Amino acid sequence: SKFEVFVTRADMPESGIEMIRRECNVKLWNRSSPVPRDEFLKLVPGVNAIYCCLTDKIDKELLDAAGPELKAVATMSVGYDHIDIQECNKRGIRVGYTPDVLTDATAELTVSCLLLATARRLPEAQAAARDGGWESWSPMWMTGPGLADSTVGIVGFARIGQAVARRSQGLQHQRIIYCSRTARHEAKEVGARKVEFDDLLAESDFVICCAVLVPETRHMFNRVAFDKMKRTAIFINTSRGGTVDQEALTEALQHKIIRGAGLDVTTPEPLPLDHPLLSLNNCIVLPHIGSATIDARKTMAELTAVNILEALKGFEMPSELKIT
Ligand code: GLV
Ligand code: GLV
Repeated sequence: SKFEVFVTRADMPESGIEMIRRECNVKLWNRSSPVPRDEFLKLVPGVNAIYCCLTDKIDKELLDAAGPELKAVATMSVGYDHIDIQECNKRGIRVGYTPDVLTDATAELTVSCLLLATARRLPEAQAAARDGGWESWSPMWMTGPGLADSTVGIVGFARIGQAVARRSQGLQHQRIIYCSRTARHEAKEVGARKVEFDDLLAESDFVICCAVLVPETRHMFNRVAFDKMKRTAIFINTSRGGTVDQEALTEALQHKIIRGAGLDVTTPEPLPLDHPLLSLNNCIVLPHIGSATIDARKTMAELTAVNILEALKGFEMPSELKIT
């Protein structure tokens, strides 16, 4: 009999679902909103694979509910903090993710949208043009920092961090520095210099977080970190909200400890509408759209499908996560 694959959204890109349908029975969650936890637990018993996304928590309880027929979990994301990989590995369940195929999309959003929009205050400026706040051209009105002659500091220098560095190079920043647990030979190509975290905070005009969320990076951007930044610094985060102590960030923005922030990720998601970060004019919040290009999402879906199909045949996934 055919393998059964549970898919956690009704609106996963069709091309990936079609690939799975050719070989397996697909059981789709019937809505485009996340499957509620209690439903999730009821729908997985006996399935052979789960196609999920970053809103679906894959933990011990869920794996227990699924049972011993589960052979593969594949997430349509590069982040994997929602999956207990160790527990999956222990049970012989392969875990797939989607690195590389979303690197350009995410780096583009980080630099070309969020960094530039935050520096030049685009939402604030557009609001002024629309609502009458634009009275006349004015010498210092709506000014923000330029990029030339600035230092950009990239925290986390894996695929996305490096792609951010390549784009930064094109923007003529004076210096690119990074910190990462390991020295990266790729840094040479973009002229990026490795520094300690504290030095990066002190020297950067733009601090960009591209670090994976693991216990060691949780709340690495806390009160102490914001205090070490320049008063004129702009903080950008496109990794996971959990890397930031959000209360500390809110205070840093309210009290002008730093100039501004641009966030594609928050805790929780979505942010409650009365959250102070949504009303500060020195903060831009985007709704977690880093990988949201049409091509990236389609390719992510197809890679997720291949990850599942290969694992069900007993092979290693093309993009498989293992705890090292
Ligand atoms: C998005 O945040 C992802 O992890 O793919
Ligand atoms: C993060 O995991 C990356 O691809 O940079």
